[in-house]
Amino acid sequence: MEERLIINGGRKLQGKIKVDGAKNAFLPIMAGTVLCDGQIELENYCDLEDLNSMRVILKTLGIDSETSNRSLYIDTKNVKNEKITHDLTQKVRASIFMLGPLLGRFRSAVVAYPGGCKIGARPIDLHLKAFRTLGARIVEKHGYIYCFGENLKAGDVFFDFPSVGATESLMMCACLLDGETTLKNVAREPEIVDLQNFLNVMGANVSGAGTDCIKIVGVKKMHGGKFAVMPDRIVAGTYLLATAVCGGDVLVEGARVKDNESLVSFLKQTACQIETFNDKIRLKVSKRLSSIEKIETRPFPFFPTDLQSQMMVLQSVSKGVCLMQENLFENRFGVVPELKKMGADIVIKDRTALVKGVEKLYGANVFASDLRAGASLVMAGMKAEGYTTVHNVEFIDRGYEKIEEKYSLLGADIKRIEIE
Ligand code: UD1
Repeated sequence: MEERLIINGGRKLQGKIKVDGAKNAFLPIMAGTVLCDGQIELENYCDLEDLNSMRVILKTLGIDSETSNRSLYIDTKNVKNEKITHDLTQKVRASIFMLGPLLGRFRSAVVAYPGGCKIGARPIDLHLKAFRTLGARIVEKHGYIYCFGENLKAGDVFFDFPSVGATESLMMCACLLDGETTLKNVAREPEIVDLQNFLNVMGANVSGAGTDCIKIVGVKKMHGGKFAVMPDRIVAGTYLLATAVCGGDVLVEGARVKDNESLVSFLKQTACQIETFNDKIRLKVSKRLSSIEKIETRPFPFFPTDLQSQMMVLQSVSKGVCLMQENLFENRFGVVPELKKMGADIVIKDRTALVKGVEKLYGANVFASDLRAGASLVMAGMKAEGYTTVHNVEFIDRGYEKIEEKYSLLGADIKRIEIE
């Protein structure tokens, strides 16, 4: 059975839309439950394929979970150390997050190499190097990473690059180590602050997240508790960019300005009307927007790679020329050939795209190459003249819950169909 989205484009977006919990905060937090003893409630849960895959991984470790009323209830009383096999890790790249907490709690971990969206080579050397710095012995063979932690100790780690995943892995690994661990040159993404807050609610002693240095003072034991996971800043940004592309007037609830400052500042340059509140952003667009001269993706607080494809759609229909540079992932221009089928004027050289805005996009059969590219094609379809069919919807479902229902509420004409 294959699912597709059929979009009849050309409608403006109008109304209110609420953002759910962040996938990229949920994933490390769910891995972090391995460190805890007890019952955990995570609020703002949404039904995403990546989160379901993570629940299956937790289940193999004896951790049961169930959902009710937008909360995920996790019971860690029977947690045990098990090998995380290839069939589990291929479905979700965040399976790599299991190494840190397993190593920290059980002093050993075996995890198959992770899968996930094909947006680049995505090495994990920074994670492994940091575990080694704390004394872990690591053997890579037959597609598996074997970590042995008999000599694991709290200590100082310096990251050569502020990797989000490596920062989170090491934060979790250090929570139960005796003594003080300092992580330097870490990533500063809001999801890292959320992970810190979660770990502390469960009894850990972590500080500094959101800056480039994180300190973890080891504790003997962590417990259960309740935690509200932050709203998804990338989903919020996607809705804002969709409104900028299609025109209209949309209030995005759960769009925290502090998480999306670079996007808001770019949008302000396009002459749209933007009103910001603490956790809401309203965007009104009544005419064709102007292009932004240059956009570069970089670690937080700069413009996120996870919004680059969606921003590419906006630049494709804006007035003027934009130079976009992707600095994080080498294969992240997967949306470009599909946008060109719809009439976009984009030239790529290496990691740079020159986007000349066109007056119109035209509906076409297009194929999502990854999660964010998929979300971007939906936006392009909603703007285009005529019908667009988006294939490979399973990519979109990894990070956006029932995207067709969300946009339909804003007035878009979009349906999901199943093909035998
Ligand atoms: C996380 C996000 C992802 C987002 C990315 C960058 C999750 C689950 N995923 O991914 O959506 O696009 O941050 O904001 O939170 N690198 C190495 N070696 C490593 C690790 C990373 O060279 O060991 C490189 C990567 O190839 C990339 C850069 O560092 O070029 C940033 O990657 P990283 O911050 O680690 O991203 P992820 O944690 O994989």
